[in-house]
Amino acid sequence: MRREDAAKAAPVAPNGDPRWYKDAIIYQLHVKAYRDGDSDGYGDFRGLLDKLDYVQSLGVDCLWLLPFYPSPLRDDGYDIADYKAINPTYGTLDDFQRFLDEAHRRGLRVVTELVINHTSDQHPWFQRARTAPRGSPERDWYVWTDDPNKYAGTRIIFTDTETSNWTWDPVAQQFFWHRFFSHQPDLNFDNPAVLEAVTDAMRFWLDMGVDGLRLDAIPYLVEREGTNCENLPETHAVLKRLRATLDAEYAGRIFLAEANQWPPDVRPYFGDSDECHMAFHFPVMPRMYMAVARQDRTPIVEIMARTPEIPPDCQWAIFLRNHDELTLEMVTDEERDYMYTEYAKDPRMRINVGIRRRLAPLMGNDRRKIELLNTLLMSMPGTPIVYYGDEIGMGDNVFLGDRNGVRTPMQWNGSWNSGFSETDSAALYSPIIVDPPYGFQGVNVMAQERTEASLLRWMRRLIAVRKTTQAFGRGRLEFLHPLNRRVLVFLREHEGDTILVACNLAKSAEAVQLDLSRFAGCTPLEMWSDQPFPPIDETPYALTFGPYGYYWFRIRGDAVADGPGAGVGALEAGQGGGA
Ligand code: GLC
Repeated sequence: MRREDAAKAAPVAPNGDPRWYKDAIIYQLHVKAYRDGDSDGYGDFRGLLDKLDYVQSLGVDCLWLLPFYPSPLRDDGYDIADYKAINPTYGTLDDFQRFLDEAHRRGLRVVTELVINHTSDQHPWFQRARTAPRGSPERDWYVWTDDPNKYAGTRIIFTDTETSNWTWDPVAQQFFWHRFFSHQPDLNFDNPAVLEAVTDAMRFWLDMGVDGLRLDAIPYLVEREGTNCENLPETHAVLKRLRATLDAEYAGRIFLAEANQWPPDVRPYFGDSDECHMAFHFPVMPRMYMAVARQDRTPIVEIMARTPEIPPDCQWAIFLRNHDELTLEMVTDEERDYMYTEYAKDPRMRINVGIRRRLAPLMGNDRRKIELLNTLLMSMPGTPIVYYGDEIGMGDNVFLGDRNGVRTPMQWNGSWNSGFSETDSAALYSPIIVDPPYGFQGVNVMAQERTEASLLRWMRRLIAVRKTTQAFGRGRLEFLHPLNRRVLVFLREHEGDTILVACNLAKSAEAVQLDLSRFAGCTPLEMWSDQPFPPIDETPYALTFGPYGYYWFRIRGDAVADGPGAGVGALEAGQGGGA
């Protein structure tokens, strides 16, 4: 489909359901890091197109692409210099359209980035603003001051590089406001022309047919004196305007909120189903790691208890790792110290308020722990996001600057440049991981395709099993509270389909007794094998686990054992308080 013809076309809807995002499994990748189709050392849309068979083989149904717009790449593309074009290193608009159409043809949806809090200082809007006279409409596109003590109650996010949210601009002869790097000036959303311009950018990509937009860094759109300049009502008003445009003009498309905040502060980003469809659940992420390190389910149970209900159309997005540091902003000081001690002993592993490592190294490359965390990812409430490379257990490189150590080239095979690029190794945008045990000669897609017990093949199976029920994406959550806190047990229930998830967070073998009396007469079917476990009766139900062991059971009434979830009544109240 040509670009003009794509305008306003509804994206292909594999199941035709406007709430598709509730059942989705998202795969996050950087075009730059995936596959180099023109041998210049950078991944591109041609390369990605060639790898769609692989993406599809994972069983995921949605791709989230990191920014691919023209940019000086000082923040890996989150510093945008032109909202309506493709960075030539990654291809052309036609390449993008070809990729998008092919993804849609395969039933894969595509979510891209809408980074509107800030631009690059190279963006023509900023260049125009700094040269325009003070008080002029052009200057007013960004946030300026003569007094850098303004908005003093605002925290600094990139604590390793920035000492202030204001930077002096010698051309403008004023300070400009930036919540991130000092080369990323924040746009001024008090200026209606700015909202109009970013709405225009949003329409551009929706017209091409993208299925959703991740709204980057949205808590910081508007500033007000005397506040911390986060989550302000004026910011929510901007989001409601964008959503109104989306709903009026584009059916079935979604917003995914990046709001790294505590659950009560994230809740308003769903609004009354009139802001974002999805939002990342930042606080539960470090707590999954904490629960495993402490061998205690309490951190997970507690944060979910503090997670407010969200409107029925809305959905959490959950993740283990992404392109950024494993953020520790949403934990207490004590918990942060604990996480650093457990997971970032080497100071090089730390950056800003977080840890720059990938999943496999964080888990000490222990396959049992990697599996355990992935089963949590796939069974906790929300839509799971898998970060590229984590499906094969890729490692990281803490010697690269910023967060680049978790953005190294995808490891396809054991040959030249890991099958990522045919160019000289020295020309690659980043070195490939070479050292054992994560080096590309050992950890790569091809090797794992050929090995029955590989992590890759296990991940495919995990995703396939998850997709046998809508309860994980849509179901309600209820924790059980057995005495042994090393074991995490919860139920997910949706329209009569009841799933029991039980996992051992400890490195030791464990046993647990569950009160499942409400299911007396039912049989748990182990979901990976479809094998029945002993039937449930009124007495405590015993389960034993090897280290880091896990089970997913479908609870099924014996009398009607031939339909998924058949015969299972509604869940009753929980089993008392405590974690
Ligand atoms: C978001 C992105 C991060 C980027 C920042 C500033 O937090 O995830 O990678 O550096 O925004 O644009």
